[in-house]
Amino acid sequence: MSKNHSVTHKACSNIALIKYWGKLPIQLPMNPSLSLTLTNSLTQTTWEVSDGEFKIDVYFEDEINKSFQNKIQSWLDKLDSRFEFLKSYTHTIKTNNTFPHSTGIASSASAFAALSKCLASLYKLETDQDLEIEDLSHLARLGSGSACRSLLTGFSHWGYESQEYASPLKNVSDKFKKLNDAILIVSTEAKKVSSSVGHELMMNHRFKDQRVKTANYNFIRLKKAIFEGDFDIFSQVVEDEAMMLHALMMTSQPNFCLLHPNSLILIEKIKDYRLKNKVEMCFTLDAGPNIHLLYTEESKVDVENFLKTECKDLLVKDIIFDYGESSF
Ligand code: DP6
Repeated sequence: MSKNHSVTHKACSNIALIKYWGKLPIQLPMNPSLSLTLTNSLTQTTWEVSDGEFKIDVYFEDEINKSFQNKIQSWLDKLDSRFEFLKSYTHTIKTNNTFPHSTGIASSASAFAALSKCLASLYKLETDQDLEIEDLSHLARLGSGSACRSLLTGFSHWGYESQEYASPLKNVSDKFKKLNDAILIVSTEAKKVSSSVGHELMMNHRFKDQRVKTANYNFIRLKKAIFEGDFDIFSQVVEDEAMMLHALMMTSQPNFCLLHPNSLILIEKIKDYRLKNKVEMCFTLDAGPNIHLLYTEESKVDVENFLKTECKDLLVKDIIFDYGESSF
């Protein structure tokens, strides 16, 4: 590769059902995690290289973004010698999301997954060799742990078969082949604490051993529920993980409460409505106050009714409708 090149790729965000929370160097998870890759919430990245001194300019939504640039720079520093060739070029990276920021959709996951795909294309131009999907997932992981799961569609897991990269969850029952996700935004305030700080606080957390044990147990139970099409167990485990993530933050030192009063109201409403109407829906949360309402295709009409009649007044933005689809 000795002239100007430009590569463009897209990658979708994912929502964790079993949470990756706590890590060891370098971005190795303390426990297995399992997530659903979304479909509409994605990042599109264009990476241009030209002959010249080594320099990186990063634009997010058409504006230069120094903080993202620093993250990308430290990601590049972690790459192995196969990618030394990058040092002979000047880089311009332009990235855009289809979803708004601070809404509970992880942008670092889709961002580093898209960057890894771009990196693989540049590597191909330089060496004429392809990278395997595991390699791409590994590269994304070095940028942001959860990004390694975004290279795969549908359900994927990380830290069970391998700590290095994510793998697809196979044998998904028909009930879970398509799972819907309505993102209920109760606040768009910037995060009070970054996930990196959250992961760090787990290192000396008084409940660390119990967390790792429970995550392993929950992982096995959730996998089984997805294979068997058991929504009751699915919702028990998914909600346990969401509550535990927040409980761990509330009991770390220093402590953080990332929930909003309306998150709690919505959680109670979801549980009440499910009990009364036998609807297959449950909630999860990222490390923030916004709710991901997960529901099966069969429950779509009931859930739409629930959203219309019970939720609208508690939200600060339009609901984002997304879904994940498994082909295995
Ligand atoms: C709560 O992947 O954002 O979303 O590896 O430091 O970039 P870094 O952390 P990140 O952590 C995600 C935390 C989570 C749970 C999850 O996605 O599994």
